[in-house]
Amino acid sequence: MSEQERQETNTDNSETYPLVALKNMVVFPRTRMTLAVAREKSVRAVEEAMIQSEHLLVAASQRDPEIDNPQPKDIYPTGTLVEVTTLHRQPDGSFQMLLSGIRRVQIEEYDELEPYLRVRVTTPQEIHTRDPQADALVRHATNLFERYAQLNRRFSVEDINSIVALKSAARLSDMLAAHLVTDPEQQQDLLETMNPLARLEKICVIMGNEIEILELEATIRNRVRSQVDHTQKEFYLREQLRAIQEELGMETSNEVSELLARLNEKSMPPDITARVRKEIDRLERTPPQSAEIAIMRSYIDWLLALPWTERSDDSFSIDHSRRILDEDHYGLEGIKERIIEFLAVRELRQKLALRDGHSRRESQGQILCFIGPPGVGKTSLGRSIARALTRKFARISLGGVHDEAEIRGHRRTYVGALPGRIIQSMKTVGVRNPVFLLDEIDKLSAEYRGDPAAALLEVLDPEQNSNFTDHYLEVPFDLSEVFFICTGNVKYQIPRALADRMDIIDLPGYMLEEKVNIGLRHLLPAVLAEHGLAPEQLKIPQSVMQQIVTGYTREAGVRNLERQLATICRKAARRIIEKPDSHLRLTSNSLEQYLGTPRYSESPIVQKTQVGVAMGLAVTEIGGILLPVEVATMTGKGELLITGQLGDVMRESAYAALSYIRSRAEELQIDPNFQDSTDLHIHMPENALPKDGPSAGITIATALISALTGRPIRPGIAMTGEITLRGRVLGIGGLKEKVLAAHHANIYHLLIPLENKKDLAEIPAKIRQRINFIIVDSMDQVIEATLLEMPNTAKSRERDDKDIPLMRPLHLDERESATRERKLLRPITPDDEQHKDEDSEHEHPPLIIPPSERLSGESYPHTPA
Ligand SMILES: Nc1ncnc2c1ncn2[C@@H]1O[C@H](COP(=O)(O)OP(=O)(O)OP(=O)(O)O)[C@@H](O)[C@H]1O
Ligand SMILES: [Mg+2]
Repeated sequence: MSEQERQETNTDNSETYPLVALKNMVVFPRTRMTLAVAREKSVRAVEEAMIQSEHLLVAASQRDPEIDNPQPKDIYPTGTLVEVTTLHRQPDGSFQMLLSGIRRVQIEEYDELEPYLRVRVTTPQEIHTRDPQADALVRHATNLFERYAQLNRRFSVEDINSIVALKSAARLSDMLAAHLVTDPEQQQDLLETMNPLARLEKICVIMGNEIEILELEATIRNRVRSQVDHTQKEFYLREQLRAIQEELGMETSNEVSELLARLNEKSMPPDITARVRKEIDRLERTPPQSAEIAIMRSYIDWLLALPWTERSDDSFSIDHSRRILDEDHYGLEGIKERIIEFLAVRELRQKLALRDGHSRRESQGQILCFIGPPGVGKTSLGRSIARALTRKFARISLGGVHDEAEIRGHRRTYVGALPGRIIQSMKTVGVRNPVFLLDEIDKLSAEYRGDPAAALLEVLDPEQNSNFTDHYLEVPFDLSEVFFICTGNVKYQIPRALADRMDIIDLPGYMLEEKVNIGLRHLLPAVLAEHGLAPEQLKIPQSVMQQIVTGYTREAGVRNLERQLATICRKAARRIIEKPDSHLRLTSNSLEQYLGTPRYSESPIVQKTQVGVAMGLAVTEIGGILLPVEVATMTGKGELLITGQLGDVMRESAYAALSYIRSRAEELQIDPNFQDSTDLHIHMPENALPKDGPSAGITIATALISALTGRPIRPGIAMTGEITLRGRVLGIGGLKEKVLAAHHANIYHLLIPLENKKDLAEIPAKIRQRINFIIVDSMDQVIEATLLEMPNTAKSRERDDKDIPLMRPLHLDERESATRERKLLRPITPDDEQHKDEDSEHEHPPLIIPPSERLSGESYPHTPA
C-alpha cells in the first residue's frame, strides 16, 4: 500500500462482518453482480449476514482460486462491503444471489474462523477531486471506452450511455474496472488502488492496450473477410446466374461441356487447342445476355470445325489417273498428257522432299491453271484430277470478287464477320489436302477495299501458304497440302504476280466431230440421268447430234450443247409420262419438234463481194470471234468517226492505218487530198462488245482502202495482224482461238502475220487441212490477197480466176454469234508487245499455204501469187 493510500485509510470506525471468499473475481463498489455460493463456510456466512448483519457482508478474493478452505493468509486484505439484494436458495442448499457493492474495506483481523469467517474491517477514505486534470482524464477515459465499446460490441447502448454519463472518476473507474477488466489480479490491483484518478489512469492504460488489440483483430478480420467475401460473392453470383439461365432455358454449362468434349475429341496443333480452351473459358465467364456470346461461340465452332489434321489418303499412279481422265473427258489428248506429266513431276518432287526430310509443303511446285472459253471442261477437269488423286474436291468462283475480305475474311470486330471463302471451303471439305479449284481467276478485280489478288497470292504461294492467316480466324491455317488449280477464260487478265506462279494449260475449244462425240458419250448420258430417263428411252443418233451442234449451237465449248440436250430431255420426259412405254429416237425430221427451227445454218453462202467491209478476228472470254470492220465514206471535211466501243489501242490502230494510207495514197490510186472532201466512219458492230487491242490494224486498213478505192474485198477471207505506219504487219496473240473461230464460221482463207507462222504447229491438223493460211508481213501483201481489182478491169478478171479459188465466202448475217450469251465480256487483244523494227520494206508477195498441203514442222510451201 502506498504512502498516499495509507493516509486515505480511516482506521477509527471498525466493524465486523461475515466474509465470503471469492474465486477469480472481485466486486467493485457501486456495481452489481450475481454470485453463486456453494461452500459450506460461505453459505453459513451468507445466512449469518441475512440474519445478523442487515444483509451486509464482506467479499474478498482468494489469492489462489484452487484452495477450497481458505485461511486468512490466503485471502487478500482488501475487499468490498456488499449488500445481498436478492437471494435464492437452490435445492442443493447453495445460494444464488445478487450483490451490490457498497465500498472498499480493509480487513484488519479475523474474528472467527469457524463455522464461517468473520472479519473486522475499516473503511479507507476515498479522495474525490474535481479539478481540470481529473475532468480531462474522465473525458479521455470515456472516449477510450466509447472506442472500445465500438470495437468490442459487447455493450448495449444503455450500458454505454450510462457509463459515459458518469462524471466522477471514482464511479467511472469502478464501473469500467467491473465491466472491462477480466484478469482477477488486475481487478484486485484496481480494488486496492484507493485514489480514483490513479485507478482511472490504470484503466486507461488497460483500455488502450485492449483497443489496440481489438483494432488489430478487426483489421485481420476484415482482411480475412474481404478475401472470403470475394470468393463467396463470386460463388453467389454464379449460382444466381445459373438460376437465371435455367429460368430462361439457357444451358451454358451444358454448352461449355459439350464444347470441351468436342475439343477433347478433336485433333489439333497444341497452340490451337490452347487457343480454343482459352476461348471456351472466356465464353464461360461471359454473362449469357452479353452480345458477344454469339460471336464467341461461332468463333469456337469455326476453330473446332476446321480440318487441322484430317487428311484423305492420296494416291497417285499414272495408269489410274489416265483412266480417270479418259473416263471423264473425250479427246483433249495433249491436255491430258500435260496433266499426267504435271502430276508425275509433282509426285516425284514430293517423294524427293519427303526422303530429304522436308515437310510436304516444300515439295509443292507450280499451280496448274486451265485457260479457255466457257464449256470446254476446265472445271470438270479439275474435278477429274481430284478423282484421279483420290482426293476431295473444293471449288470457289472468284468472278466478281473485289473485296479482299472475301478471300481472307473479316475481322471479328466486324458485324456479321465470317472467315473468307478459302477457309469456308476448307471447313466444308473437311480435309487439309483437297484439290481446290479457284474458278474464274481472271475475273478477280482489284477495285477497292484491299487487293484480293494479293490475298490470293498468299493462298497460292507455297512459301507463304503454310501460314495462311484469315482475318477472322486470327490463327494461321496451313494450306500447304492443298492442290490448287485455277481456271479462267483469258490469260491476259490474270494478275501478273499470280500468272507467274502458274503452269498454264490452254483449252482452245472443240471441233465439230469432238463436240458430237462429247455430246454422245458424256453429255447425253449425264443429262438423261439428270432427267430421270433411262438410256434406252431416248436415243440420239450421231447424225442428229451433229445437226444439234451445227444448227443450234455456235460456241467453242459444249455448254450450249448441254443445254440443248437438256431441252430435248425435258420434252422427252413429258412424252414418256404421257405414253409410259414409249422409246424415243430422234431423227433429223423430229429434231425441230424438240428444239424449234435451227438457229444457225451451214448452208453455202451467197458469193458476194463487198466494198468497205473487212473481216477481222478477236479473242474474247468466250473464245475467238469474228470481228467485221465497216468503213463508210461521206462527203465532208476529212473527219474521222470511230464507233463500236473501241478501246484506245484499237483507236490508235485506226489512226495508224489511216496515216499509212495517206502516205501511200498515190500507189493505192487514192486521191492524196481525199481528206479535204471526205469524212470517214469506221464502225465495228460486233454485238456492241467493248473491244481493244492492235490486232485489227490490217483489217481496218483493208476496209479503209476498199472504201476509198471502191475495190471490193474478196469474200470468205478473214485477217488478223497489227499494222505499222510503214505498212509492216506485226504478230498477234491468240492465234489458236482465232483460227478456231474462223473454222467455225466457215472461213477458208485466213491472213496471219509472218511472226505467227510458228504458232501454226499448235493448230489441230484437221483445221490446218481445211483452212488456207496466207502468211503476210507487209500491207502490200495484204492488199494483194484481199482486194479485188475494180470490176470490169482486165487485170481483175485475170486474177480472180487464177489465184485464190473463191471458196465459201462468209455471209455476214451468219455471224450471229454465241457472244450474245455473255454480253458484258470484253474481248481481249492479247498482244501488247512493242515492236521496234519498222523500217524493212517487204515487196515480196504473200505466202499462201493451201489447205491441201499438210503442215509439218517449218517447211511451209511457198506459193507466190
Ligand atoms: N472433253 C470433254 N469430255 C466430256 N465432257 C466434257 C468435255 N469438255 C467439257 N465437258 C462437259 O461440258 C460441261 C461444261 O464443262 P465445264 O463446266 O468444265 O466448263 P468450263 O470450261 O469450266 O466452263 P466455264 O468457263 O463456263 O466455267 C461439263 O458438263 C463437262 O463435263
Ligand atoms: Mg467452269
